[in-house]
Amino acid sequence: MEFFIDSANIDEIKQASELGILAGVTTNPSLVAKEKVDFHERLREITSIVKSSVSAEVISTNAEGMVEEGKILAGIAPNITVKLPITQDGLKAVKALSDLNIKTNVTLIFSVNQALLAARAGATYVSPFLGRLDDIGQEGIPLIRDIANVFNIHGIRTKIIAASIRHPIHVTQAALSGAHIATIPYKVISQLLTHPLTDQGLEKFLSDWENAQTD
Ligand code: E4P
Repeated sequence: MEFFIDSANIDEIKQASELGILAGVTTNPSLVAKEKVDFHERLREITSIVKSSVSAEVISTNAEGMVEEGKILAGIAPNITVKLPITQDGLKAVKALSDLNIKTNVTLIFSVNQALLAARAGATYVSPFLGRLDDIGQEGIPLIRDIANVFNIHGIRTKIIAASIRHPIHVTQAALSGAHIATIPYKVISQLLTHPLTDQGLEKFLSDWENAQTD
């Protein structure tokens, strides 16, 4: 499973990129709004740092508007992936954009059927939301597993991005369930790295080394 960062914040994207593990970026309108910056300008900044897939979401709700917006977003940089919601219009726009060889990420996926429809419309990625299912008392992980099984059975090449990740356990479970990618907030990426026994172990190695020098 690969790691994307789920952020529109430049410092976070730079720091994650410097770790050498970053395979892409996802943004959404809420993440961009938090930054209080020009959307297209921010996409130019992000795509100058990360050369792999950067998802940018459309705001239009009708297919024609989504396609027009998608073309403009895709024109900002060659690695932009156009993100669209799974609605009737979203599906039509995914088909139109994929016919133009524009990569798409279909978002707000909460069922296997939605994922299957998006894949058949030509989506490059589907984004099932784990955390938001957990939030309403439904389990998100079985959704990832079921989509992965259905895609596998039917030879579907659309990639599954586990989204709405809230904590490190989601990341491990997403990997075990067959997600190709997890898009993860910076805070959780940092949490993946740490373990108290690693800190204690390193401290002991260094103090043993220091003590040996003074013997
Ligand atoms: C990414 O593609 C999604 O927009 C994002 O993971 C949603 O996360 P949230 O449920 O924490 O807002």
